[in-house]
Amino acid sequence: MAFLSDRMARIKPSPTIAMTTRAAELRAEGRDIISLSAGEPDFDTPANIREAAKSAIDAGQTRYTAVDGTASLKQAICAKFQRENGLDYDPAQITVGTGGKQILFNALMATLDEGDEVIIPAPYWVSYPDMVLLAGGTPVIVECSLEQGFRLTPEALEAAITPRTKWLILNSPSNPSGAAYDRDQMKALTDILMRHPDIWILSDDIYEHLVFDDFRFVTPAQVEPALKDRVLTMNGVSKAYAMTGWRIGYGAAPTPLIKAMAKLQSQSTSNPCSISQYAAEAALTGPQDYIHDSRAVFQRRRDLVVAGLNDCRGIDCPTPQGAFYVYPSIKDLIGKTSAGGTTITDDEAFANALLTETGVAVVFGAAFGLSPHFRISYATSDAQLSDAIARIQSFCKGCS
Ligand SMILES: Cc1ncc(COP(=O)(O)O)c(C=O)c1O
Repeated sequence: MAFLSDRMARIKPSPTIAMTTRAAELRAEGRDIISLSAGEPDFDTPANIREAAKSAIDAGQTRYTAVDGTASLKQAICAKFQRENGLDYDPAQITVGTGGKQILFNALMATLDEGDEVIIPAPYWVSYPDMVLLAGGTPVIVECSLEQGFRLTPEALEAAITPRTKWLILNSPSNPSGAAYDRDQMKALTDILMRHPDIWILSDDIYEHLVFDDFRFVTPAQVEPALKDRVLTMNGVSKAYAMTGWRIGYGAAPTPLIKAMAKLQSQSTSNPCSISQYAAEAALTGPQDYIHDSRAVFQRRRDLVVAGLNDCRGIDCPTPQGAFYVYPSIKDLIGKTSAGGTTITDDEAFANALLTETGVAVVFGAAFGLSPHFRISYATSDAQLSDAIARIQSFCKGCS
């Protein structure tokens, strides 16, 4: 009898974490490495949020809380949905977990049976397919090319639906492409879903606040209120308030799903960290200046990175609407050989050669289900970004 379960054979470790670890190892060996592989803001958590956490400790808020979040945090989340998304939820329709990741995990574990299908547009966030597989479901990947703006079309959605489809996962703005759906594009998808009453929609809104230029963020339950009773709207404080380490995410959905998710959480992690919950409440109810300030910084960096990459021979980098990633194509570099002698057979070979020859760590597109691309996270300083772009430019110049 094998010691490890069959379940473990279905999944792989996160490729983005693997790349970040590899970059850290090379740095520890003394190499000059620029890591553009991590998906987290490089800013500190705002001071008012840190203060709220310290006060929570001093006030003795250090015990177990209700399994899926304190009453006051759930109230703050309801107010957030009302204020920012025009969505009315009551606290019984809210769940809080250890990061948005746990909300997704709970929802899939609570609803998927063997053979249930989940439609996942590619490029996708690396954890979606593996979470579906862990829960016993079947990921149905729909490739959304650069030419389509990396967005799912209504035709492709319709074609992917079968009698086994249980969920569609939407992530706007997207990790890894930064692509986002405007109201019309979202409505075109919700119109299809209105004709398929058994399909639920999991909307991962974690990058909601990182949208640029005049782009207006929308979420499915807001665009089509008639779908609200089969939407799980997931969000969290990690990316919006530079709180990745605090581990607070939340979801809003019909009460029976919320109850099932809480039951699961009660038998796994119990409540998310009590202190982090008080910090998240301060984030949602306090001043929102950080969101505006960080958005301006990320927009400037996006423009720097897109312009620099489009100056690289063989790279085509579209301008994303949001998040802090770009997802350029390296189609024109496939088959070429780098100055260091590596044949660029695919995007993994490209990312490995780039790391070895220039010290720039990026994540290859195959990890996100759409090749030949790579992902850069520009959540790092302008100086690091300029240095990285110069190295990528010289790497591309050396390819023949
Ligand atoms: C698309 C997407 N969803 C969810 C998450 C999870 O965020 P967290 O668990 O930190 O709240 C991430 C983090 O990288 C993400 O990129």
